[in-house]
Amino acid sequence: MLAFCTLDADQWTQSFTAAEQERAIAALEAGQVVFCPNLRFVFIDCEDKFFSSAWSDGTSKNISFDATTGRLKGIRGGKSDVAQLAALMGRFAAGTRTLLDNLLPAYRDALVQARTSYRPVQIKGRAVSMAKDDSRLHPDAFVSRPAGERRILRVFCNVNPHGQGRAWRLGESFEPFARRFLPRIKPPFPGSRTLLYWLRVTRTPRTCYDHYMLGLHNAAKRDELYQKSCPQKAFTFPAGSTWLCFTDQVLHAVDAGQYLLEQTWLLPVAAMRSPDQSPQRIIQRLTRRQG
Ligand code: SIN
Ligand code: FE
Repeated sequence: MLAFCTLDADQWTQSFTAAEQERAIAALEAGQVVFCPNLRFVFIDCEDKFFSSAWSDGTSKNISFDATTGRLKGIRGGKSDVAQLAALMGRFAAGTRTLLDNLLPAYRDALVQARTSYRPVQIKGRAVSMAKDDSRLHPDAFVSRPAGERRILRVFCNVNPHGQGRAWRLGESFEPFARRFLPRIKPPFPGSRTLLYWLRVTRTPRTCYDHYMLGLHNAAKRDELYQKSCPQKAFTFPAGSTWLCFTDQVLHAVDAGQYLLEQTWLLPVAAMRSPDQSPQRIIQRLTRRQG
């Protein structure tokens, strides 16, 4: 728990030694956080205006950018502002790609880019529904975009200009967590996953894994006792730092912070060095035993 692999990087284009690459891939696949305390993302002068929560449309959790469509969602702003923020987020996305290519060359041909998000709203005191409340420990599982055989690898950068850290908590490792909650989750009702797809609740049909992961995500967030008493450790990521982890595996929660950039990358389980450490394989093993 709360195992970190700290990397001495201060450039997005930095190259890494074979030993650093080895340390990083082993740490990530084991469910640790790779932390770069000195890797900052710089806003250029005219971008400083984006340091305001007023850019959020007030209903979405984050402002998100989809590189495949070029569309920005969740923002309130004029056309040129939208283009400017999209450019900033595109620059961040490109930076994370270079970082991952240099740090994790084994993943280079397999990574698929997903959403970029900008989070300008203060987390502390924000009102959200329980399922969306990221201040409760959870592994990431998407409702409408099932991950299937893909891992969720996220790169976070705290861009707060006032020196405010991003206060996280990290929980126990995935396997004991899954062992604790899986017995409470009913197997998928026959036909239900196809129906959800037909009804367009999901973009692709949920796999059995997606069903169980969403169940674990919701069960963990709902369990008050678990939230209070499970093993967890707080860590604040300073302003101007970057960190990455497989968020489908690392139990995480955020308590405070404002202005974060995040890039999601998807990695096929088969492209991992040790697929057995994936939540996909862990859940497969545990449900087989259970069933
Ligand atoms: C989350 O991924 O659950 C939230 C992380 C953050 O916004 O700091
Ligand atoms: Fe999350």
